[in-house]
Amino acid sequence: MKKIIPFIVFAVSLPAFFACCGKHDKQASQMSNPVIESIYARRSVRQYTDQKVPREILQTLAECGVNAPNAMNKQQWEVRIIDNEDYFNALTDAMEQGMPGSVNRSEPGFRNVLRNATAAIAIACPDDESGMSLINVGLFCENVCLAAQSLGLGSVVMAGPVWRLHSIPEAKTLIDRLGFSEGYKLRIFVGLGYPAEAPEAKPRDLDKIRFID
Ligand SMILES: Cc1cc2nc3c(=O)[nH]c(=O)nc-3n(C[C@H](O)[C@H](O)[C@H](O)COP(=O)(O)O)c2cc1C
Repeated sequence: MKKIIPFIVFAVSLPAFFACCGKHDKQASQMSNPVIESIYARRSVRQYTDQKVPREILQTLAECGVNAPNAMNKQQWEVRIIDNEDYFNALTDAMEQGMPGSVNRSEPGFRNVLRNATAAIAIACPDDESGMSLINVGLFCENVCLAAQSLGLGSVVMAGPVWRLHSIPEAKTLIDRLGFSEGYKLRIFVGLGYPAEAPEAKPRDLDKIRFID
């Protein structure tokens, strides 16, 4: 009888175990998976502490970007990591001079026009008719943002400053300093740093999703 008891306990607990697994599967897709948790927790951060991001971490984040899916693995991007405060200050000055009124230094926590990030990854790609290069860059950015989130860093993808800098003659030398190859154009910055704010999630419209039967 003693030998049978564990078996009975095991058999009785099986349905509960499977019910629990089913529940776990359902929840796992939303909560207990670290990648999915990072996706749900990530928000654009625009306030950062003064703490510098170590270069090894910045290198890892850039490598996460390079590991993004990209069309035919052509890796048509060039990547620059910036953690030099002088560079951010120069960008800010150039924008202030080239676009008067576009810089509000009295904003709380203002540090620079890259949304106050203490580091940034600048990504360039060529023009291509298919648009694939820009899609690649988008995927690159998302990998960086999610990796940053998982490491306790904040991130913000920024096209606005790029667009402004391209239209300001004063900023040309700063863009040139990034040293992108001929034919490659700066497309986006991903600002990075240790977050000094925890923004609420902005609403998402799930009605955009539907199954086709
Ligand atoms: C292509 C692209 C360009 C963006 N440009 C800027 C920008 O110039 N400045 C900025 O503060 N945020 C920028 N963002 C961040 C978006 O505003 C942000 O992702 C969106 O409002 C959703 O908020 P969340 O990232 O906190 O979920 C950009 C995001 C993307 C994907």
